[in-house]
Amino acid sequence: MGSPAIAILGTGSYAPARTLTNDDLSKLVDTSNEWIFSRTGIRERHIAAKDETTSQMAAAAARIAIADAGITTADIDLIIVATVTPDMAMPSTACFVQNHLGAPGHAACFDLNAACSGFIYALDTAWAMLGSGRYRYALVIGAERMSTVLDWTDRTTCVLFGDGAGAVVLGPARGTAQIIGTKLYAEGAHADLLCIPETGCSPSDQTPGGLRKQPTITMKGREIFKNAVREMEQAAREILHQHHLEPSAIDCVIPHQANLRIIASIGQHLKLPPERFFVNLERYGNTSAASIPLALDEARSTGRIKPGDTTLMVAFGAGLTYGSALVRW
Ligand SMILES: CC(C)(COP(=O)(O)OP(=O)(O)OC[C@H]1O[C@@H](n2cnc3c(N)ncnc32)[C@H](O)[C@@H]1OP(=O)(O)O)[C@@H](O)C(=O)NCCC(=O)NCCS
Repeated sequence: MGSPAIAILGTGSYAPARTLTNDDLSKLVDTSNEWIFSRTGIRERHIAAKDETTSQMAAAAARIAIADAGITTADIDLIIVATVTPDMAMPSTACFVQNHLGAPGHAACFDLNAACSGFIYALDTAWAMLGSGRYRYALVIGAERMSTVLDWTDRTTCVLFGDGAGAVVLGPARGTAQIIGTKLYAEGAHADLLCIPETGCSPSDQTPGGLRKQPTITMKGREIFKNAVREMEQAAREILHQHHLEPSAIDCVIPHQANLRIIASIGQHLKLPPERFFVNLERYGNTSAASIPLALDEARSTGRIKPGDTTLMVAFGAGLTYGSALVRW
């Protein structure tokens, strides 16, 4: 007998109230709305309030996902938070989320770092854990406070990212809806292309005074762009092939929301029209691990994803990590 079928039972998302437009950014660095929009498709992004943490945003998204799934917090026995911007190095953001929600003490809680592919990695992990039969309901969350790891004087990176959270509840399939497959990849040889280098734990972070720098993102944008197109296409093609599906069988693609030109290239390579892709990066920028679950929730709540649809999620991020997931609703 195979593993029990597991489905996404509910989705939720949260974005901070404050928005920062491209025009706002042009007052901070030498840039323009025209440059940012034409190169990326982004018009604005949400920025967390001073006292708003990653775990608070994660919990806000999780509450909506739990209600949508028709279960209660007491049913949750696994919480995974994908993030590169945890509240603290320890304890995990997932433990803070558990506390914010009042989830039961028997829930296993941990964070997962696969950068912008974090949600797909966490989905794969939770699916496997639920498939073992030892856990019943899991919260899988992508949550980021990217505004804290941006160098606000570097126009090549600070215009790209935003804050937010997205969450899903996984549990026993109730009908034909289920997770069909996932596929994960990593290419550590390209780790230098996109980094937040200083953790304070590395010998190179130590200074004679014992001080460490505020960690911020460094990126080789053009290299990232090329790798993103190639690797997201590979992740999409291989999972479709594995499950004997043509790209045309996909009702909605939810790509990592980094750059509209990257998404358009993937569409051309897969011969899928732009309408087949759900895109909301215009209003959020790149929210890293939060990007796919945030888009997924919006696609569901606006009716873009309907019961019976097949969705392909495909992600790419620092690592380099990449991956894909096929889900039937
Ligand atoms: C970052 C990115 C938008 C830059 O676009 P690009 O077309 O490759 O632009 P380039 O890096 O070649 O830069 C072109 C020029 O614009 C300038 N520029 C960079 N950022 C700018 C900004 N915000 N405003 C105005 N000019 C900018 C550069 O300095 C460069 O000037 P130069 O030609 O005088 O040196 C693009 O490479 C990209 O999206 N890469 C992927 C990034 C990503 O998605 N990262 C996250 C992955 S999970």
